[in-house]
Amino acid sequence: MFSKVATRTFSSSASTAYKVAVLGAGGGIGQPLSLLLKLNHKVTDLALYDIKGAPGVAADVSHIPTDSSVKGYNPDQLKEALTGADVIVIPAGVPRKPGMTRDDLFNTNASIVRDLAKAAADYAPNAAVAIIANPVNSTVPIVAEVFKSKGVYDPKKLFGVTTLDVLRAARFVSEVAHTNPVNEHVPVVGGHSGITIIPLLSQTTHKDLAADVRDPLVHRIQFGGDEVVKAKDGAGSATLSMAQAGARFTGALLNGLAGEKDVIECTFVDSPLFKDEGVDFFSSKVTLGPEGVKQVHGLGNISDYEEGLVKEAKDTLIKNIQKGVEFVKQNP
Ligand code: NAI
Repeated sequence: MFSKVATRTFSSSASTAYKVAVLGAGGGIGQPLSLLLKLNHKVTDLALYDIKGAPGVAADVSHIPTDSSVKGYNPDQLKEALTGADVIVIPAGVPRKPGMTRDDLFNTNASIVRDLAKAAADYAPNAAVAIIANPVNSTVPIVAEVFKSKGVYDPKKLFGVTTLDVLRAARFVSEVAHTNPVNEHVPVVGGHSGITIIPLLSQTTHKDLAADVRDPLVHRIQFGGDEVVKAKDGAGSATLSMAQAGARFTGALLNGLAGEKDVIECTFVDSPLFKDEGVDFFSSKVTLGPEGVKQVHGLGNISDYEEGLVKEAKDTLIKNIQKGVEFVKQNP
């Protein structure tokens, strides 16, 4: 009797039932990300969309006995995949090959993200949208422009996923400092490519690292993605660690939507921090809440060295953001 009541209370509670749509679910990131989302008990409806292969991924993942339904959608079913979504995660797009920068992906991925954003604006305008597709510094502004053009832009609901940089920072600092990475929490601010990735080691217990240790460590965090691209030797970029990062970020978004307290992640958002200098989007610690962004946090105390990195990153960020905005203007 007691368990029946408890079950009913649980299943009728709106704050624990969420539809998450993964666009690009058949890909290297999309598949393991879908798997990890199937394990998240807040996800009650998992909609997997891709231009190829989504129904197969959905059938496979659906056999895992967690309390959620999973459905795969083909290209002609994007509307159904998106309708009612609370969170949309977008890993659709081509990955890097050796020698490529994230910016080299712009030409292909910009139009993929633009078109998916148009559909999201039409069919799920209130959803929180998390962008994994690179170059994140440009694809996030692309989505913002599309949403603005359709009159549904909510800056609190758009996120560039930079969580992989946070994971790498924790892992790499632990290798240098011989600590348990599980206990390492390094805020990473700025953007998601090369020199725009800025780990704030001064805000950790490792603030006194000698420059000859710190500089290579910061470089490794900034360019860690290249290690995976090189090792995969033409077969793509980070997918498994990225899936873990994407699942963690999506989980945090859902925790925020559910009204949990003190849900904080670093993420690339429409940010007030450096708007007066022309940097419209910036990654920093963000408290997530029922409306999406609850609070964008400032950088806090940072070292002179980090001040220099932030200063240097701003020019690149302005150019990357402008490139996304221009793309939508030229190719609406
Ligand atoms: P992938 O090529 O393995 O998978 C991409 C998937 O997107 C494919 O299944 C493809 O069919 C699908 N797709 C292409 N156009 C589509 C469309 N219009 N609608 C729906 N699906 C579409 O690539 P992977 O390795 O999964 O990477 C995906 C993206 O994530 C790349 O842009 C990559 O650069 C980016 N990435 C981002 C990271 C981050 O930290 N934010 C880290 C690693 C990769």
